[in-house]
Amino acid sequence: MKNQCPALSENNPALSQPEFFSAELLRQATTTTCKTPAGESADTAAVKESVITPPNPPRLAYHNQENDIRLYHGDCLDLLDAIAAQYPDGCFDMVFADPPYFLSNNGSTCKGGQRVSVNKGQWDKSRGLRADFKFTRAWLRRVKRALNPGGTIWVSGTQHSIHVVGFVLQSLKFRILNDITWEKMNPPPNLACRQFTHSTETLIWAARDEGTDHIFNYDLMRRINRGAQMQSVWRMNAPTPDEKVFGEHPTQKPVALITRCLLAATCEGEWVFDPFLGSGTTAIACQRNRRRFVGIDLSGSYLDIAAARIRAESGQGVDLFETGLENQLPADSSSHNRLARNFKPETFTFPGIS
Ligand SMILES: C[S@@+](CC[C@H](N)C(=O)[O-])C[C@H]1O[C@@H](n2cnc3c(N)ncnc32)[C@H](O)[C@@H]1O
Repeated sequence: MKNQCPALSENNPALSQPEFFSAELLRQATTTTCKTPAGESADTAAVKESVITPPNPPRLAYHNQENDIRLYHGDCLDLLDAIAAQYPDGCFDMVFADPPYFLSNNGSTCKGGQRVSVNKGQWDKSRGLRADFKFTRAWLRRVKRALNPGGTIWVSGTQHSIHVVGFVLQSLKFRILNDITWEKMNPPPNLACRQFTHSTETLIWAARDEGTDHIFNYDLMRRINRGAQMQSVWRMNAPTPDEKVFGEHPTQKPVALITRCLLAATCEGEWVFDPFLGSGTTAIACQRNRRRFVGIDLSGSYLDIAAARIRAESGQGVDLFETGLENQLPADSSSHNRLARNFKPETFTFPGIS
């Protein structure tokens, strides 16, 4: 079938991911109740990170050559400008972006039965609708330039951010393919009891342009969904404790969620970019599924978590250059054309790599 990657072998790790098949995991959800705060005011809870001054130009903070994973420290706008200077026609096949949701505005939520501040860090503070809109447009405009023709982007968000993202995507002439609802299995209860419990996040999936073909691994998605067409509501747990052993990121995504996006929209060996890396979840999904990766974050401490997670995975990964990857691809498949066009490791360099 057109615009799908070559079929995976039966023993491919992508098909045995427990997150996809285990009803057990889905049953693990329990109901949480929240105690009334004991003298703790969420409003006074400190914002965890002070204002971050990232290096400019962005600095290569970590490079895993075995799996071709590069992590940058800096502002994604600066890195995307540097990439555009080197690759004016784009170089990434997929972008996964989990941008600030702009919800760190002194509200409170319930975590582990306690009322806690929703403040995540300065990077998540809203600077008003106009400034948030300008930032969203600035990074999405640059991401569009960095995508290959036929490339796609996933952007996550909640009501605080996703409507602006959707508007900007349309105004920049991306083609929206789906809005995925991630239904959380065990959402925190609503404390004010004045609204429904927030139990979903949205992921918008969009192609770079109106007129180009994109990859959608339809057959693989159907197999993962036990033979039925994959629908746009995905029920998944929040990250498990073993995904957080190297440190806590306040808005960490589950590996299973990003893995599904990756498997749907890319082929092995392709290049993925994450402008808001956080604890490196996209990098881990790429490492496990043999995609090459570039990511960036403002915060050095989040990058430390990401690098530790990647190091821990290393050794369990597969060396792309030993898989005979190119030989597995049929000569006339569009995915092969995509790979051949972009697979230039000898010339693919970024600022900071000598
Ligand atoms: C929502 S979190 C991403 C979490 C990530 N998906 C994970 O699973 O850990 C957003 C991240 O973007 C970073 N960030 C915010 N603005 C940025 C910018 N202009 N450039 C690079 N990183 C930025 C923040 O430091 C934060 O770690």
